[in-house]
Amino acid sequence: TPLHGLLEALPKCEHHLHLEGTLSPELLFTLAERNQVALPADAAYASPAALRARYAAFTSLDDFLGYYNAGVVVLRTAADFEELAYAYLSRAARTANVRHAEVFFDPQAHTARGVAVATVVAGFHAAARRAHADHAVSALLVPCLLRHLPVDDAAACFDAMLAAGLFSPTGTGTGTGTGSPPLLAGLGLCSTELARPPSAWAGIFAAAAAQGIRRTAHAGEEGPAAYVAGALDVLGAQRIDHGTHAADDLGLLARLAAQRVLVTACPVSNVVLRVSPSLEDTPLRAYLAAGVRFSVNSDDPAYFGDMYLQEVFCAVQEAFAFSVDEWALIARNAIEGSWCGDERKRSIG
Ligand code: ADE
Ligand code: ZN
Repeated sequence: TPLHGLLEALPKCEHHLHLEGTLSPELLFTLAERNQVALPADAAYASPAALRARYAAFTSLDDFLGYYNAGVVVLRTAADFEELAYAYLSRAARTANVRHAEVFFDPQAHTARGVAVATVVAGFHAAARRAHADHAVSALLVPCLLRHLPVDDAAACFDAMLAAGLFSPTGTGTGTGTGSPPLLAGLGLCSTELARPPSAWAGIFAAAAAQGIRRTAHAGEEGPAAYVAGALDVLGAQRIDHGTHAADDLGLLARLAAQRVLVTACPVSNVVLRVSPSLEDTPLRAYLAAGVRFSVNSDDPAYFGDMYLQEVFCAVQEAFAFSVDEWALIARNAIEGSWCGDERKRSIG
């Protein structure tokens, strides 16, 4: 198909990728065995192939999250986290020319099982250093607080990361992954969305703002446009993850454009989790028309048919037939909307 060669060569930044969402069924079974972790007594876990088949039939965000949260329990040691993150970063660099990745992880999913945040971050940091040396890809980490757990639990998690000195002061992250910690580049919010409006996390996000920590939030995935406005107003989010339902409100799109908010779109994820009926129904053209800046991202590729970033770009091109100029704008906005320093941005493209 026309442009696929150009799309492969395009220097990319990925901003919406959950490292736990890159856990393949095969690695899940390998780590369960290695770490002696029991898998659920459910027919879906009969084999990696059976699990893959179940992943092909998600009915909603929550249906997916049940499997995603069941999977993370096999991750226990710093070496496990390093293996997971290195596999993603090297694949992204090799197959999609991803030059810079700002990747999410769920600290509470690990601390709840007695795995220290420091262990998780040490593994990811080792992977980032190695991937930078081997593939010239830079990485920044963004911990996401989990909406399905009590707000107090999220507050305790944030306070612990802050006290441990894990956050980089804004603007100092090189994004090369070569420095020593701290390397958490911002704070995010994810997991189930319906019936969990952003307001409950306002206090934590205000505390992050007071510390000069960047903020982003999943909003408007299953939730309404009002939750996207809430993420901006109540959480002070500087980025919006998904944002799909923002397109239901043209005034909100105008505001996202005026405030130069980067929307981290995940069109394949939206189709797999039934947020959008088809790729053509995802709001990428509406964003372009309204002047909303967005990047194109893979979200949880191991759960979504192994659609990593190159596969997502090609699928988007099949659906939208963007012009060379439109792709150049999308790629430029992704670089400019990144949280790495200006020097790193210039070296990306
Ligand atoms: N955690 C991992 N993937 C997610 C998604 N698509 N939405 C909300 N939380 C998530
Ligand atoms: Zn996500």
